[in-house]
Amino acid sequence: MPVITAGSARDMQLVGQKIGRKLRAGQIISLEGQLGAGKTTLMQGIAKSLGVTKALTSPTFILYRVIPIGAVQEKKTGARWLVHGDAYRVTRAQEFLEAGLADAAQDPQTITIIEWGDRIREILPRRVLRIKINTQTKRRGSDEARHVHVPTALAP
Ligand SMILES: Nc1ncnc2c1ncn2[C@@H]1O[C@H](COP(=O)(O)OP(=O)(O)O)[C@@H](O)[C@H]1O
Ligand SMILES: [Mg+2]
Repeated sequence: MPVITAGSARDMQLVGQKIGRKLRAGQIISLEGQLGAGKTTLMQGIAKSLGVTKALTSPTFILYRVIPIGAVQEKKTGARWLVHGDAYRVTRAQEFLEAGLADAAQDPQTITIIEWGDRIREILPRRVLRIKINTQTKRRGSDEARHVHVPTALAP
């Protein structure tokens, strides 16, 4: 699995932009790594590369959010929607099904990315692509190196 090092939060957004350019309609991605690893930061870069202009935050309390993809990126990826999920608070994977995530993720015109996807593995299809962020410490705020493990299909 290719490993990309991000030395700062800004770097992590750029890594997200590179990964974002590889994404195609129908893909489901699990973003994994401890609290503060940089999952949302990576996601912000991904969203930017998909033409999403509004600021992105973790949908921790609403489970997931459906965001329209930019017109140019829609042509390129074949996707109209970006689903951004967050399973951090989920105690039962079924909660996600009940909230309609499976239906949303199965839409062929959707790209689905779920922070903490490892917590709801049993409701995700086998074909899920896993991105793992490793960090030695989890200091918030100040920049420090993070290692992003990316499946070959999504490697820049
Ligand atoms: N190399 C780095 N990559 C990403 N974030 C970093 C890095 N170094 C420091 N940070 C900081 O770590 C925090 C990551 O937060 P966030 O992206 O919300 O993590 P998560 O969604 O995994 O909980 C931010 O405060 C960010 O500024
Ligand atoms: Mg997050």
